[in-house]
Amino acid sequence: MPHLHFKGKTFVQNHHLAVPFHELIPVADKGLSQKPSLHDNLILQGDNLKALKALLPTYQGKVKCIYIDPPYNTGNEGWAYNDNVNSPMMQSWLGKTVDREDLTRHDKWCCMMLPRLKLLRELLTEDGAIFVSIDDNEVHHLRCLMDEVFGEENFVANVVWEKKYSASSDHKGIAPLHDHIIAYRKSEIFQRNLLERSDSKDSQYKHEDAKGVFRVSDYTCNKTAEERPNLYYPITNPHTGEEVWPKKTRVWGYSKDLHDKHVSEDLIFWGVENKAKVPGFKRYRDQLKGGDGVVPATIWAHEEVGHTDSAKKELNVVFPDGGAREFVTVKPTSLITRILQIATEKDSIILDSFAGSGTTAHAVAAQNAEDGGNRRFVLIECEDYVDNVTAERVRRVMRGVPTAKDAKLKAGYGGSFSYFKLGEALEKQAILDGEHLPSFETLAGYVFFTATGEQFDGGKIDPKTGFIGESRNFDVFLLYQADVEALKNMALTLDTARALPSHSGKPKLVFAPTKYLEEETLRKLQIVFHQLPFEIYQRMDAKRR
Ligand SMILES: C[S@@+](CC[C@H](N)C(=O)[O-])C[C@H]1O[C@@H](n2cnc3c(N)ncnc32)[C@H](O)[C@@H]1O
Repeated sequence: MPHLHFKGKTFVQNHHLAVPFHELIPVADKGLSQKPSLHDNLILQGDNLKALKALLPTYQGKVKCIYIDPPYNTGNEGWAYNDNVNSPMMQSWLGKTVDREDLTRHDKWCCMMLPRLKLLRELLTEDGAIFVSIDDNEVHHLRCLMDEVFGEENFVANVVWEKKYSASSDHKGIAPLHDHIIAYRKSEIFQRNLLERSDSKDSQYKHEDAKGVFRVSDYTCNKTAEERPNLYYPITNPHTGEEVWPKKTRVWGYSKDLHDKHVSEDLIFWGVENKAKVPGFKRYRDQLKGGDGVVPATIWAHEEVGHTDSAKKELNVVFPDGGAREFVTVKPTSLITRILQIATEKDSIILDSFAGSGTTAHAVAAQNAEDGGNRRFVLIECEDYVDNVTAERVRRVMRGVPTAKDAKLKAGYGGSFSYFKLGEALEKQAILDGEHLPSFETLAGYVFFTATGEQFDGGKIDPKTGFIGESRNFDVFLLYQADVEALKNMALTLDTARALPSHSGKPKLVFAPTKYLEEETLRKLQIVFHQLPFEIYQRMDAKRR
């Protein structure tokens, strides 16, 4: 496979591994939740490279659908490359606005994107998919980066979104009316959903029985008995007892086995009042996944999914006070809804790490209100407007927008979210100096994740006994308090070792500042000991390599 080369690539190739884990600090009064939790809908304030890394212990392999809308690198956006990569060339790039005059602007953009795409991939479920909005400034580079990170065999589609409905009359060239949405899957297990039929097609759903509303489709196919002898067989009409044969020039569409299955599932229609001479196939509207939807295609017209003007209007409905007027790169919720329909289930987690005005959260809340789903969103935004635009939009759409014409939006979609900001990096020296001691729960998350590589569940910890979770091979314990004096006296002794509760009967993996026990005793008690904080970092360093 051809690879894209760009300035700085060697420095950022493994940068995602070197980014330290950071604490996530709840900011209770900015969320809409009784008790902030990382398992709630989330809005994270901060740079997405650090925030994505901080999410790994809780969300690795859990996110079903990622939508991102990164800077397009048009030369007018005022973004700056700010990743703290340790090389003089990269350092000289920091903080400088990337404009059209910048001869390395495409290199910087690739350097910014590569480590983020790598972390995003780690967060996806095996059956998950990522959708990235982009325009012609970077689409060709993005495709190469995504081939590299996700594998070219996992390319799903390059969708053309018709973002404008007309070309501006003063355009000097061929006016671009579309953006791209590049989609890749994590693996071949990903399956796209079918799209619901539009209202006009819904009129075909004329029939109803105890299972719901359905339409009837033809039970035959365009093949001859000679071509498909296995599809030429008699079907018994259960209402008359007669045998019904298909035409020799147009046989049944299903094998005998499949037909028997249809009969057992009551999917055969014999007409109104069972008067039909030939069978039909019942296609229920609520079971579109089963095969009665529309196959999504790669051209998304503005009439179906909105355009940039409708997106701005939509944002202004939520901010009638003009509070988001300056926000120009907003996407229509219907565009994100289309992605949710294609790539999520009702309980999926959706991540947007370039959240902007919060369209993704708006679309998720609206879709849940529409279909009774329980999808969750995770949004990351680094700019100051994360509180008064991104989070404020979500507060308003959840609680209701009194001036909105749409009844559901007026009433509010309901739901809650927790707001977190990035805290300090969990650096070994800061812990050793007692300068910055993370909370028990924060350290538990990182210790558990880095030691086991498995997902951490904060709901299971017990700071009293030190239990922080069960992995495939161990019950894991952390003897720790965020207090220098307490830590000085904290050790794994014979008494503390014997007092460790047995959760699953598996050997115990114990992290503590020190131990006063012989190896032999540890072996007898089936304890594997690791010293804090050195051995967490040894494990992290091993992973980085
Ligand atoms: C094109 S806008 C996204 C617009 C969004 N889709 C919407 O509908 O409102 C890109 C956003 O990504 C944010 N962003 C850029 N770099 C970031 C970073 N390193 N970390 C977090 N957010 C970032 C920008 O501040 C901006 O709000």
